[in-house]
Amino acid sequence: MDKNRLIEEATAFVRSELENEASGHDWWHIARVTKMAKHIAEQEGADVFICEMAALLHDIADEKLNEGGEEAGLKRVKDWLEVHQADNEMINTIIEIISTMSFKGGNHPPMTTLEGKVVQDADRLDAIGAIGIARTFAYAGAHGDLIYDPAIHPREKMTKEEYRAVKTTAVNHFYEKLLKLKNLMNTDTAKEMAEARHQLMEDFLQKFYHEWEGNL
Ligand code: ADP
Ligand code: NI
Repeated sequence: MDKNRLIEEATAFVRSELENEASGHDWWHIARVTKMAKHIAEQEGADVFICEMAALLHDIADEKLNEGGEEAGLKRVKDWLEVHQADNEMINTIIEIISTMSFKGGNHPPMTTLEGKVVQDADRLDAIGAIGIARTFAYAGAHGDLIYDPAIHPREKMTKEEYRAVKTTAVNHFYEKLLKLKNLMNTDTAKEMAEARHQLMEDFLQKFYHEWEGNL
């Protein structure tokens, strides 16, 4: 099995699957996360190839993109890897990473492998900062949520079902998830990168309320 070839084929597969996804899981999200995962993996001494493969495939199994839910999505990834002759150990590692890394209200146990920590950090870095702000408003628009409503308060604690089902606003999403991510980073490399991105969101919110109040 040729690793470079596998990366190329996974890239083509994911690109064709997610090219027209406008809800925050588009191909460019995958491209950014994969690049970031490679960078963090190099800094942290993780297996770069595993991180790259898991980053490329991490959203193919997303429950929002699969009719049969997350289970069916994971099976698709597994089948794809088998057809492309990935070895069993590699398949198990990749499936373990992508089945445990999603936020879903913050209710997941910690990642068990260094490679999982790296890919989860890369995905989380793409949810904060300037890109994170853009994705949040794109997601809210796609789901018919308001940018802000002072009468709808952010939820403190929620189950995975509530996190998905109950209506919220784009601004509330900062409090329900995005501002928590800085402290949830696994690796030192990602913790350091998260600082400036976090500060940008704090500054953005401050300016947002300032303008909301009609200040000049
Ligand atoms: P996760 O799988 O980590 O729970 P998603 O894959 O659902 O997150 O999120 C895709 C993008 O949309 C991310 O940038 C995320 O922060 C954003 N997003 C998720 N839920 C909401 C929401 N309720 N309102 C606004 N943005 C959201
Ligand atoms: Ni993602």
